Amino acid sequence: MIKAKRIVVLIGGNGSNLQALIHASQNKPDAFNIIGVISHNPSAYGLERAKKANLPTYTVDAKLFANHKAGFEQCILDILAELKPDLICLAGFMRILSKAFIQAYPHHIINIHPSLLPKYPGLNTHKQVIANQDTEHGATVHWVNEQLDAGPIIAQEKIAVQPDDTEDSIKLKVLALEHQLYPQVIYQLATEYTIKVRS
Ligand code: GRF
Repeated sequence: MIKAKRIVVLIGGNGSNLQALIHASQNKPDAFNIIGVISHNPSAYGLERAKKANLPTYTVDAKLFANHKAGFEQCILDILAELKPDLICLAGFMRILSKAFIQAYPHHIINIHPSLLPKYPGLNTHKQVIANQDTEHGATVHWVNEQLDAGPIIAQEKIAVQPDDTEDSIKLKVLALEHQLYPQVIYQLATEYTIKVRS
């Protein structure tokens, strides 16, 4: 029998990807369970979404650790040590994790990013797509390593960019794609382990 995997979701904002994961875990409770949601932002709407779903929530306010990244990360590591997740899923978590943090959970941290990596790591991906008149865009799920948005790619989905698309319209399209892709990838990681890791 498949053992449901324990996942922790790290957020920082609206939490629409978290919402998609909540729905997926409720639909397939034998595959994965969200055992906790950690936010670096006390005002993140994602915390409300988690509470509505009766999930344990934790806030480690990054602003209180402005000059003390190690302390910020240690607080998160302490929570993770209690929760003992099988997989840590970043979903709008806007802080770069240190080598020490990543090494505490080798090959157990994934992220979703709104671009076709390796194109456009970092912020403002939609703006760059429009500015460069790209004809395609998309979302990528990747393992987290010590470089920003540069870990091995697990899965990627594309959308076509239309001539009348704007930054806002492609943002919505890519988010809709993410809401399909992230639960799918986590489901596969939780149940099959067959996803090919590309470097
Ligand atoms: C998503 O576009 C995700 O790819 C990026 O941050 C955004 C988070 O959105 N890492 P939400 O908080 O899940 O709505």
